[in-house]
Amino acid sequence: MSKTHAAYAPSSDASRRILDEIEEQFRLTKEDLTRITAQFLEDFSLGLREYNHPMAMIPTFVTGVPNGSETGTFLALDLGGTNLRVCEVELLGNHEFVLRQQKYKVSDALKTGEATALFDYLADSVDAFLTEYASAVPSSPSSERGNPFASPSLSEEPAVPLGLTFSFPVEQTALNEGKILTWTKGFAAKNAIGNDVVKLLQDAFDRKHLHVKCVALVNDTVGALLSRAYTGGSCILGSIFGTGTNGAYVERVENIKKLGNSPARQKGGYMVVNTEWGAFNNTRTVLPTTPYDNKLDRQSINPRLQAFEKFISGMYLGEILRNILLSLIDAAPKPLLFNGRSSGPLNTHYGLDTAVMSEVEDAWETGRVSSVPVAAVDSAKSKANGVAATESQPSSVPDWQSTHFTDVDSLSPDDKARLARIQGILVQRLALDPADVSLRDAAIVRWAASLVAHRAAQLSSCAVAAVLVQTERAKLGGGFATDEEKICVGVDGSLIQHYPNFNARLRDSLRELVGEEVEAKVEIGLAKDGSGVGAALCALQATKQGH
Ligand code: GLC
Repeated sequence: MSKTHAAYAPSSDASRRILDEIEEQFRLTKEDLTRITAQFLEDFSLGLREYNHPMAMIPTFVTGVPNGSETGTFLALDLGGTNLRVCEVELLGNHEFVLRQQKYKVSDALKTGEATALFDYLADSVDAFLTEYASAVPSSPSSERGNPFASPSLSEEPAVPLGLTFSFPVEQTALNEGKILTWTKGFAAKNAIGNDVVKLLQDAFDRKHLHVKCVALVNDTVGALLSRAYTGGSCILGSIFGTGTNGAYVERVENIKKLGNSPARQKGGYMVVNTEWGAFNNTRTVLPTTPYDNKLDRQSINPRLQAFEKFISGMYLGEILRNILLSLIDAAPKPLLFNGRSSGPLNTHYGLDTAVMSEVEDAWETGRVSSVPVAAVDSAKSKANGVAATESQPSSVPDWQSTHFTDVDSLSPDDKARLARIQGILVQRLALDPADVSLRDAAIVRWAASLVAHRAAQLSSCAVAAVLVQTERAKLGGGFATDEEKICVGVDGSLIQHYPNFNARLRDSLRELVGEEVEAKVEIGLAKDGSGVGAALCALQATKQGH
């Protein structure tokens, strides 16, 4: 990190120190990342051995991954991302699918009210979807009176099978059964923890006389894994870098020691394990906690929980940035930002959306001439069914530090234009007075955003590296070559898809952790619509098993 050629205002030694200190707190060395990955591996084995650890390592009872030849039409319901989604998924059997979906908002009142109200809302959304959109779901008879599945006279018909993607920690006991362990990502509905989520949903369907049966339960990471395997032919890890973060991977059943002598364990083979890595290191012994993280955690709905997720995911990155910006506005002896003035959004908890950070970094990257800009996950290939599948390519991250230390006046017109774009974003999105936002302020905000995002991407690479080592595809420190041609990782979520350079930064530090040879084999591909397709694939597996 170059910090020596700074031309900050002469009187600002104290200011320089403040910025230097922040940068230092966010810096992660290769040794730090290696230590974190090693701890990940320890927590993996603890979670595989015993129940009730934060890194829950949940057996999913999904014992195989699809190969793309599966067919059928299923309903899927997806709760746990930014929106609630109801989809109809038609698996075409040639690695392709057709998906029709409708999104519904989940209000904060529903997220934190009574669980029955939340599940009634889910059932209402399915009802609305079936009435307005569904077409080809099996046994769907035509009807002139709206939703055909609501008619009691059709009770002889087999119920419409639905797969539920429920993206929260659930201790699964079968493909269609599992108790909610805890809420995450701002949900806190009452009287849900400890209950079977499939039953909560089925009861709501029954209360509404909907002729729909929830046959399978799946986490979004498992959905990403299955859908990527379906479209791409293979996949060893499904991961989400979005509102939350988590990963599910294919583990040998013999390693899932906590299954004891259960029939599932005796059967052997492989099983998908949902790691719930968002809860990694809740004790924060290895995570590089700063005062900005502590403030976020203390003010969150779940203090001391989901520690890793709070460093990484879209729900929190904007809030970390907001905390940094406020500290600079309040800096003494003189403010370091916005003439010491704040604004409504900046004074509001979660008032700075991660999307704004993303816009700021995007404005900086667009038009950059010094390096090659990198899309988060690139080279979109459109498929016949309109679903885009994407592959990533290794690439290095353009230099991103130290602009805040340079004399803004001496920057090139190009760079000034990029900062001016950031200025515009800040004025607009943060409701700041244009007179309070200088080009230097724009440079400082971009610098702070990239510190937060870079650390998030680096930490994400630790989780991916841990799975590669756990599944014997890599060694920590490198020097190991698996004979597999490629290692497929399915990803989904707003950060990995849209945040500038997130994927490239992740790969850069993955390379440091597992070596160039293995990293080059890792193919990170978008598991687009993973939640819907994964739920459909699980519903298919469940109906085959006679659920
Ligand atoms: C949270 C949930 C987890 C989910 C992840 C991504 O970490 O606990 O189940 O997979 O968010 O949505």
